Formats: sequence, structure tokens, C-alpha cells
Amino acid sequence: MPVAPLHALVYQSQATRPLEASDLDMLLLDARINNELANVTGALIYGNQQFVQYLEGTRADVEQIYARITRASQHHRLEILEQGRVDARRFQRWHMGFADAPQGVVQQLSQAQWQRERPWVEDESSTSRGLSRLLAFWKEEAVLSR
Ligand SMILES: Cc1cc2nc3c(=O)[nH]c(=O)nc-3n(C[C@H](O)[C@H](O)[C@H](O)COP(=O)(O)O)c2cc1C
Repeated sequence: MPVAPLHALVYQSQATRPLEASDLDMLLLDARINNELANVTGALIYGNQQFVQYLEGTRADVEQIYARITRASQHHRLEILEQGRVDARRFQRWHMGFADAPQGVVQQLSQAQWQRERPWVEDESSTSRGLSRLLAFWKEEAVLSR
């Protein structure tokens, strides 16, 4: 059977209330179990009551997880920043990596340019600015804090 192509989706949203560490722990526990079953990987960045989340997997799996995410009560005003085909996973090891980000970082991510001029492929040169920033932040600063 041919391997289904990989798809990635990035969205931002706003928390409906300030979230405590314990709220985030519960959310991540639930998300990781579910993502593992669906073979979806990615990263969640939270700061200043805003989320930016990157999801990757087959298109059907990513869409199923995203549909679930849209129903969560802890956030609202979801907005897809970018989505498309990808050649490889970028968060292979993370069923949902998490990073608390300084306010400025989340703002930068949410205001970055996310649309690509060319299809989303592994080649760094065709990566949108938003995605480059997210990956750079993850590489340099993010540790699995939860
Ligand atoms: C910011 C955010 C990210 C989430 N990420 C995922 C995810 O990656 N995978 C998943 O299955 N569910 C995800 N969820 C859903 C949660 O795991 C959980 O189902 C939801 O928060 C339940 O809350 P509720 O019962 O108060 O609506 C996410 C929810 C939020 C708010």
C-alpha cells in the first residue's frame, strides 16, 4: 500500500481564561494519548494567553485531530495560519511538544508571514517565515517543560 503523504497545519487561538500549569498538564496528557493513537506529532506554544500549534501527520489524521481541537473549551478564535503538504516530519519525537513562550515570541509567531510562495517542502528556502521562526524558537529555547 502506498504511504499517505504528510500534511501539516498551523493555527493560532486565544485562551478563554488564564490557564494554570495543572490545566496545561491535563490538556497535554489528553492530547498526547490521542495524538499517539492517531500518529500525529507536533508542538504547542503558549504565552500571553495565546496558543500557536503545529500538527503533522496524514491529512485525514491531522484534520481529525484539528476538528477535536476546535471543540475544546479552553480556547476560541481559532485561525489557521498555514497548512499544506510536507515531505518529512519536523517533530518526529513529539506527540505534542510543549513550550511556554515569552509574550514577544507568541506575538511574533502570530504576526509572522505564514503563506508560502511555493509548496511547502523540506527545502528551508521555501519555508514560510512563520514556520522558520517557530522551528528556530523550538530548536534554541524550547525544552520539554511539561
Ligand atoms: C490549545 C489546545 C491544544 C490541543 N491539542 C490537542 C492535540 O494536539 N490533540 C488532541 O487530541 N487534542 C488536543 N486538544 C484537546 C484537548 O486534549 C482536550 O480534548 C480538550 O482540551 C478538552 O477540554 P474540554 O472538555 O474542556 O473541552 C487541545 C486543546 C487545546 C485547548
